Amino acid sequence: MVKNINSFPDPSIPYTFDEVYPPSDDTYLIIDYFIKEINENFFDGLPINSIKKILDMGTGTGIIALFFQEIKKYLSNFTSKIYASDISDAAIRCATLNEKTINYKNNINFIKSDLFRKFPPNLQHSFDIIVFNPPYLPSISDKENNIIRRRSDSNWDGGERGFEVFLEFLRQVKDFLNSEQKYYIYYISSSSTDLSELNEELEILGFQNSVLNKRHIFFEDIILNRLEEL
Ligand SMILES: C[S@@+](CC[C@H](N)C(=O)[O-])C[C@H]1O[C@@H](n2cnc3c(N)ncnc32)[C@H](O)[C@@H]1O
Repeated sequence: MVKNINSFPDPSIPYTFDEVYPPSDDTYLIIDYFIKEINENFFDGLPINSIKKILDMGTGTGIIALFFQEIKKYLSNFTSKIYASDISDAAIRCATLNEKTINYKNNINFIKSDLFRKFPPNLQHSFDIIVFNPPYLPSISDKENNIIRRRSDSNWDGGERGFEVFLEFLRQVKDFLNSEQKYYIYYISSSSTDLSELNEELEILGFQNSVLNKRHIFFEDIILNRLEEL
């Protein structure tokens, strides 16, 4: 049964594991934007019935994938298949358990993979929407001793400049986007990295970037962005 659109609930996450990234300000920056931009006919301006496959890359607890699965109950025109992937075994276990507990009957397709490396070929050129809240903090560097230390886990460490993991994602992503129609990639960046350098890289890779929202948290701004074809 389709429920009333005026009452999207906050997605509920029954389990978080110690080593899995818990839903945080950046996660809700994404979800709050989607809640505002989804209605019976459109997803952020795209016809909602044209969206056939959505990927939540780096799913963590699974919260963004679960959010998409949940809103299908509210929108009869929204029938997209939902995929969720992560490099971490613990994240995939946690997200799978959350899906089972909420009882979506295994509707989310989970893939354990370092970016797209383990994605099956039949998913190439298929995603209309991809969301990635990547690790976005720079590795800790000790320049005097010429040492760069990785942060201890893949939840945070984005590489030397903070966006190496994200740039590698962008190099691989083109093979997995459905370029037959307009697609969107949503991602989080941080003011603690060199954003003008990141923007240059995005242009070289052929993407147009729009800033959708920002939130100031402690020492940095976290920024929600959307990419589309230049
Ligand atoms: C900042 S957390 C975001 C978690 C969740 N999407 C959220 O918004 O709450 C980043 C996630 O990306 C995953 N990740 C890091 N490097 C990855 C890679 N190379 N391939 C796939 N996932 C990766 C981490 O394991 C972690 O779950």
